[in-house]
Order: sequence, then structure tokens, then C-alpha cells
Amino acid sequence: MCGIVGYVGHEAAAPILLDSLRRLEYRGYDSAGLAVHSQGRIQILRTVGKLRNLENALAEKGLPGSVGIGHTRWATHGRPSEVNAHPHVAGPIAVVHNGIIENHLQLRSQLEASGVTMSSDTDTEIVSHLIHRESVGGHDLVTSVRKALAQVHGAYAIAVLSAAEPDRVVVAKKASPLVIGVTRQATYCASDIPALLPYTNEMVFMEDEELAVLEADGFSLSTLGGAALSRRPRRISWSPIMAEKAGFKHFMLKEIFEQPRALEDTLRGRLDRENGDVLTAEIGLNEDDARNIRRVILLACGTSHHATLAGRYWLEDLAKVPAITELASEFRGRDAIVGEGDLVIAVSQSGETIDTLMAAKAAKERGAKLLAIANVNGSAIPRMADASFYTHAGPEIGVASTKCFTAQLANLLMFSIWLGKRRGTLDAAQARELVEGLARVPNLIEERLKPSLDAISEMVREFSDARDVLFLGRGLSYPMALEGALKLKEISYVHAEGYAAGEMKHGPIALLDARVPVVVLMPRDRHYERVSSNLQEAKAREAKIIGITTAGDAEAQALCDAVVEVASTHEALSPFVTVVPLQLYAYCVADHKGTDVDQPRNLAKTVTVE
Ligand code: AGP
Repeated sequence: MCGIVGYVGHEAAAPILLDSLRRLEYRGYDSAGLAVHSQGRIQILRTVGKLRNLENALAEKGLPGSVGIGHTRWATHGRPSEVNAHPHVAGPIAVVHNGIIENHLQLRSQLEASGVTMSSDTDTEIVSHLIHRESVGGHDLVTSVRKALAQVHGAYAIAVLSAAEPDRVVVAKKASPLVIGVTRQATYCASDIPALLPYTNEMVFMEDEELAVLEADGFSLSTLGGAALSRRPRRISWSPIMAEKAGFKHFMLKEIFEQPRALEDTLRGRLDRENGDVLTAEIGLNEDDARNIRRVILLACGTSHHATLAGRYWLEDLAKVPAITELASEFRGRDAIVGEGDLVIAVSQSGETIDTLMAAKAAKERGAKLLAIANVNGSAIPRMADASFYTHAGPEIGVASTKCFTAQLANLLMFSIWLGKRRGTLDAAQARELVEGLARVPNLIEERLKPSLDAISEMVREFSDARDVLFLGRGLSYPMALEGALKLKEISYVHAEGYAAGEMKHGPIALLDARVPVVVLMPRDRHYERVSSNLQEAKAREAKIIGITTAGDAEAQALCDAVVEVASTHEALSPFVTVVPLQLYAYCVADHKGTDVDQPRNLAKTVTVE
């Protein structure tokens, strides 16, 4: 986690760095800092807490100069404090870092044994001392960075200043993301695209074990070993306005309301409504490949994992292919059996989550074919994959993922339809019905967004004091129940559990009483009757029932204490409509409680630590 930025140009660096950091604050927000070349030396400013504290300090003290680096932190080594905030300084060297130096304890002892005094608890400070030690040995900044990084194991994206070389920033990366932005007058770098969108759309994605020297009139790229590289910038189609709140109180609410548009963009050009098929060359498989897949393994973390759980149901149901889902962190941690004939689908909004990246890499190395489903173009997982099937949800800034989740569902369903057609398990009429239904989903969501928000914001007055909430669903509603519980936990800090409704009687029913609201997902599908029985079991324990029901379902509504109606859909499409009220429920509870909706405590948008 953490976000790093850099600027080399002719304008005042500090406001640009601060503005870019603001767009990266979702990556971490417990402290922040800047380093700028100023009047022959490097000046540093660091503050604890959110960026506004750094902004206030900058307004007070100023930081003149047109070359600098910045950082927003999510603590891994050392608590949030000013001394642990980046940049870290050693002599004339200042460093910002995103990642984890795995051998930091060993390096720390070596440095301390040689007389270095550390001033922080961080792993990053070690990097600044290593670079300093090399520069004292007579090397220029680039060589010092190379030699220092040769001693380091772990993940890093770093940006480095040296007082001796005031016209440049040196950057390098391994396993943590870093993108370079170019214009005619300036060169930028950042951990993620949105940080640079107000300045440029021309971006270069750095690969692992690469180093770049950024100067005002351009950049030079090489391997860490010193071999020169050449890479042309890519044009990024996202606009800066896409990363603004556009009148909404929070990014999360804006992104929930953007779902119809995000889905339209994701479906655009991919649905063949005439033939009831999915058109996509992007998935990188031919008809033979489709027939010969032995098994699909879906790897992801967090919300993306919940999307894969729905993906598994679709793959088995529509394409009759054995499919398993696994949390990427667990897949990595065991000796998973995977190899030729397996198709691994790695699903990640950011495309940078380290657990998903490493799990997918391990599977690919063992012979599996790797398909990435990601939202960030050119991010690490798609770069490593055999093929990439992007979601087109636009930048997602709220830490709680919403629009990218429904876009991931769309890609997984499209892929399942495509595969089912090729494997002969989905006939033309079924495929046409699904394709038609999917094309209508953006409208179905749009129509119910405002009424649902109104109903839910009223409802939360009664339920927002609950300490525990249970979410129940069967079939495709089960992963949505998991997602509803995760959303509520992460932004409102209310304890919530998602359960397969059939499991309730095997334990969680013991939790139920009049103080525990139970959210029951009960679209009119094949599970309806049994979910209805589970609802009655909860009701008999005096639990208050919030039903997510199909519009007009009077029978279900009579059983519930409160209801949010969703559009009637084909059974396979129900996740798209049932999850939206759960996102809104979490949002409204959090807003009612006054928590920091877009930047909940202890979380970060992109998790680049293991
Ligand atoms: C989503 O609300 C969470 N913040 C989190 O679980 C997230 O989905 C997870 O970290 C995976 O991220 P990715 O999709 O970028 O890989």
C-alpha cells in the first residue's frame, strides 16, 4: 500500500505533488510527506494523519522548488508518527517507498554495526542509508540506487532525490506499481494512474526490476542491471473528471450510482444480441481451447473473491466446466495442484493486489493458462497474463469497491456464456435470453437506484445501532450476502457475517435475538422456498428481517420488517440487482454513523503487502 509521487519540471513542485497525493490517498492515509530540491538542498515536510495536515503545514512553511517527491502512508513497519513518515533521509538522500523490504532486520543490524544511527522504525529508512553509503563511496545517484537495491529483498516502488543532483528523480520498482507520466515540459511518476490524470494522459508503465531517471525534458529507462530500454508512452483514456466526486457526498455513493454507466461501458461491443453470443477476442482462447479446458481456477481477494464465487456458479451452470475459487493468499500458501489444462482467471480491480499477483504467477509457472480480469489498464496482473479481459468501470476511488464489483460480475458472466456456447452446453435460446437480459441490466439498476437510496436511508435510522448484522442468501445470492457483510464491516465498523442461508442452523442461529437484524436476499429463484423457511427460523428468534425481494412479491414482503424491492430478472442475473441495495445499506449506515466512508480506518485501496 502507500502511494508515492514525483515531479520534475519548471513549476512549483509541492502543490503538484500534494494534488497527486490527494488522488492517491485511498492507498493509505496515516501520515504523509514531501521532499523538494530547494536552494541547493533538500527540504522535507512530514505530518501525521490525513493529507490536510500536510497541506496546512505546507501553507505555513512553504517548500519552494520544482523537483520533488511525495508519499502517503499505510503503516506496515512502525506506527503512524512523524519520524516514521516518508520521505526518509540519509545525508543528502531522500527516499519515498511503497512496498516491504523483507530483509530489513538483517540490513538494519549491518548498518547499525557500521555506525549508522536509525531515526525511524521503518524498513524504508534502510534503503536511504544503503543509497547514501554507496554515494559516499563515490557513485552517482543512479549507480548508488542500483547497488543499494542489489542488497534488498522484497517489494518496492521508490523515488529518490539526491542533493548533489538537483535536476532529477530516480525511480525503481519491483512488485509494487509505478507509472511515469510525460509531457513536453515535465515528467511525473506515481503509484497509480488517477494521480497523474490532471497533468497527462501519456503514461509509461514500469516493469519489475526497472529503473528510470526522470528529468524535466523526459526520462530514460533501464533494467536494474543497467541495460538501456526503450518504451513508448501509452495514451490512457480516463479523464480527470472521472476521478472527481461530481456533486456526490462521497466517492462511494458516486460510484454506486455510476454502476449503470460502468456496466454499459463494460458490456459495450461485447454482446452480440443478434446471435445471442459474446464477442470477445480479448480472452485469448480459441474454440479448441474452450473445449479442452479441464478446469477453471478463479483467484482473487476480498470483494473480487466474492465476484469469483458467483463466477464459479455461472461457469458450472452454463459451461459445465469444473470450477473452483480460492482466496489468492491461501492458494499461494499451499502446494496447490495446478498445471496444463487449467485455466486460471485472476480477478482484481487494481490488477496489483500482491496475493493475487503472486498466486497467478505461481499458477502460470506451473503451466496453467492465465486470464486476467482487471480494471486498471496495464497493471501488473494483466501484464503478466496470457490474455486480459478488462472491465471498463473507470477509476474507482472509494476504498470499498462497488462499481468494479458489478463490472467483474459482468465479465465473469460474459465469459461463462462465451464458454458455454463453445462447449455446446448452452443452447441458442438460453444464450440469447441471457445476452438480452444482461444488456438490460444497466437500466434495471438505474431505475431502482434512487428509490432504494430513499428507502434505505429511512430504514437505517432503525437499524444503524445494531452491533451485529447477518446477511443470508442461497445460490447466487450467497456470494452477494458475503459481499453485503464485507461492505458493512469495512465502512461502518459494524460486525457483519454473510452466510449461506442453509448454514444458519449450523451455528449462527445462536447469535439471533431482537437486537440482530438479518438481511435476507430472496429473489424469486429456485431457492426461494427454502430461503423463506430460513427467514421464518430467524423470525422465530425475534430477529428483525430486512428483505431484499423481487418487486411486487407480497408474500415475501409480509414476512419482513423492512423491504427493499429489486427488479425481476432472469435467475442468473439476480446478483446484479440484489447487491446494489446492500452497497447502499452499508453506505447509509456508515454515513449515518459519520465514519470516513471513502477512507475507512486501517484499510487501503490497493493491497501491495502480503
Ligand atoms: C473491497 O471493498 C475491498 N476494499 C477489498 O476487499 C478489495 O476488493 C481487495 O483488496 C481486492 O482488491 P483488488 O480487486 O484490487 O485485487
